[in-house]
Amino acid sequence: MQIRKVVIPVAGWGTRSLPASKNIPKEMLPVYNKPVVQYVVEEAIRAGIEDVVFVTNRDKSVIEDHFDYNLQLEGILERSGKYEMLKTIRDVAEMVNIMSVRQKKQLGLGHAVLCAKEMVKNEAFAIMVGDDFILGEHAGLEQLVHLAEERNMPVVGVMEVPAERVNRYGIVFGKEVSPGVYSVSGMVEKPEVGTVDSRLAIVGRYVLPSAIFEHLERVTPGYGGEIQLTDALASLAAERGMLAVKMGGIRFDAGDWVDYLSANIYLGLQDEHLRDELRARLLAMLQ
Ligand code: UTP
Repeated sequence: MQIRKVVIPVAGWGTRSLPASKNIPKEMLPVYNKPVVQYVVEEAIRAGIEDVVFVTNRDKSVIEDHFDYNLQLEGILERSGKYEMLKTIRDVAEMVNIMSVRQKKQLGLGHAVLCAKEMVKNEAFAIMVGDDFILGEHAGLEQLVHLAEERNMPVVGVMEVPAERVNRYGIVFGKEVSPGVYSVSGMVEKPEVGTVDSRLAIVGRYVLPSAIFEHLERVTPGYGGEIQLTDALASLAAERGMLAVKMGGIRFDAGDWVDYLSANIYLGLQDEHLRDELRARLLAMLQ
């Protein structure tokens, strides 16, 4: 199983991020000096991905534009001798091949993935949600790709969440077969707090065979009336088994304000030109 392609659904309404996301896709909101979706694509590249399929809607073409050349801007930077920034923005245009497909009705994450069926065809592929990103060397999608290629099995990425937060995620049940790797025996979308023992939450990273599309075509609307990817995953896991891997690194959900703001501060503190002043301001605010 060789993984070269990732599907990144970015067609949701982003209601948690309003009013910021009224006319700017939430995946394009900046975290420090880059839009959220660039961190996602950079994580994909670290995992060896070459082709990105964005599942978009009519208001999201700015996401594809971000990964394309902007010749006018490049000309201005070149004429004013800003070569370092010129290289930075050209590198973004050249980092990956971009394709896109429209999700015409926002019927859920599972439906968004199904929209990419004709682009993926018969190969195994990765899925990353476009508003979640993971920072850390070898953390995130790379872990899933290694495991899937080694074991030739579908893999989902999980993180342990507090028991009172299980109702925000798809929760996986399974037995630990090697450190941090679980054989999946079942899963449920957003269970009520106190109804499940497991705290292993699926956090937007998957490596799957193209057979997932048959399962997506069969599932009926689930939680929230949406076509849930988790329901199709449960069906695929029952048919051919599945592994879950605990992902390392730090994860930020850009659709959650505390995560979003924390990500900005975290990355700002990594920049040696900003660190001291930012730290001083934060400390002053905390007094
Ligand atoms: P979310 O549930 O976080 O996104 O889906 P949302 O629906 O846009 O956000 P809120 O809850 O209203 O704030 C995770 C990812 O799946 C995409 C979203 O764009 C996001 O990147 N998605 C979700 C789709 O592409 N299509 C959908 O129908 C739903």
